[in-house]
Amino acid sequence: MSKICILGMGYIGLPTALLFANNGNDVVGVDINQSVVATLNKGSMPFEEDGFQELLNSAIKNNTFRAQTVTEDADVFLVAVPTPLDKETHLSDLKYVASACEMIVSHLKKGNLVIIESTIPPKTCEKTVKSTLQKSGLKASEDFYITHCPERAIPGNTLHEMVYNDRIIGGIDKRSTELTESLYSCFVKGELHLTNSTTAEMVKLMENTFRDINIALANELAQIADEYGVNVWDAIRIANKHPRVNILNPGPGVGGHCIAIDPWFLTEDTNKGRLISLSRQINDSMPQYVLKMVREILVGVENPVITIFGVAYKGDIGDTRATPARKFIKLAEKEGYEIRVHDPFVTEFDYPLLGLSESLNGSDCIVLLTDHSVFKEIKPEEICGGMRNLNIVDTRNVVDGKAWKKVGFRVQTIGNVNIPHAEILITKRSD
Ligand SMILES: NC(=O)c1ccc[n+]([C@@H]2O[C@H](COP(=O)([O-])OP(=O)(O)OC[C@H]3O[C@@H](n4cnc5c(N)ncnc54)[C@H](O)[C@@H]3O)[C@@H](O)[C@H]2O)c1
Repeated sequence: MSKICILGMGYIGLPTALLFANNGNDVVGVDINQSVVATLNKGSMPFEEDGFQELLNSAIKNNTFRAQTVTEDADVFLVAVPTPLDKETHLSDLKYVASACEMIVSHLKKGNLVIIESTIPPKTCEKTVKSTLQKSGLKASEDFYITHCPERAIPGNTLHEMVYNDRIIGGIDKRSTELTESLYSCFVKGELHLTNSTTAEMVKLMENTFRDINIALANELAQIADEYGVNVWDAIRIANKHPRVNILNPGPGVGGHCIAIDPWFLTEDTNKGRLISLSRQINDSMPQYVLKMVREILVGVENPVITIFGVAYKGDIGDTRATPARKFIKLAEKEGYEIRVHDPFVTEFDYPLLGLSESLNGSDCIVLLTDHSVFKEIKPEEICGGMRNLNIVDTRNVVDGKAWKKVGFRVQTIGNVNIPHAEILITKRSD
């Protein structure tokens, strides 16, 4: 049994704390946000995530978890605080990691292990983390140990993924890696891949950079397909029949706190990375491309009103962090469009969230930005009544274009503008 002090009770730190607390450890959850601490000590989760309320209940009942705003002595310290991107410089902002390490310094003892789960640029463990912790007077690799153990769980399926995903464990030395491997073995059922800290830092960033570049490719293919009058969704589906091809889906841009940020972390200290930064630019420019589609479909409409379907950065979750919807809405507003927002998963957003029919009342165009499953179920004949003009721009290829057109909608999909030739091809295939 280890005593583990976990700093940062957010989407990553709290689930990790509850898994450790329910698997034989004594866990202290530390957060500088007093209200998070109070909520947890009342036995409530500060956010919803399947399976974790039950884990919190049992950890409190068994006295293996408590929350507080200050650190205390422990065997292991685990850091899961935010690592935002500085918008102006595109550099990582490590102030939270640095302050969490400062909070550990006065409690650091011989034999302690410090694990960084926060996403960090290559060499952060060896540089920032090590030098801050050595302010304790103890020496890293001799007196205490440091490991990077990045988290890759997906919001909405965190419990399953934290337990069953493979994990990368990279210590600054062999002993750090071994201690961390033994700790995580208590609940991780995926494979544990042992390496050094800089490799672990780089692997985590490479994974999301791979996804960002491949989404950029799909977005570029969609724009090329629009020029040629090809349905890119059909083309991608067929191309993916090749045994070694797996093209991703285009969309309105990339959001969330990882994919759009990690490529910047990967390249912040190198003059390489041209492909990586070009991909960022392509993905960041997709809201402009969607606006162009909206502009084209609404030519001649006076005082246009548009209804946004979905502001979460991806389907079936309520997370709006770095969502491309925000940029799209700002650009559309600047151009004079009146905006209505409907998202059945999101509870808080910078714009008022409206119910389905309210959001469509007097609207000239639906702009579908998020692939929530519920949007697939919408029957166009049931929602068109209150709209002023029947248009939809579908950036995720979610709606059944034929059914919507039957009701009178003009339908534009990213990578499948209405070119008759392309439609004839699809009709032939499915008949
Ligand atoms: N959320 C994800 O799905 C995800 C996935 C992979 C990696 N990550 C990475 O994990 C890290 C944490 O992300 P998150 O989503 O859990 O963040 P979050 O914003 O949900 O939670 C972070 C918490 O840390 C607290 N905090 C800030 N400074 C602190 C300090 N010095 N001491 C104690 N608490 C402090 C904040 O009050 C907040 O409650 C980030 O580096 C992120 O990039 C997140």
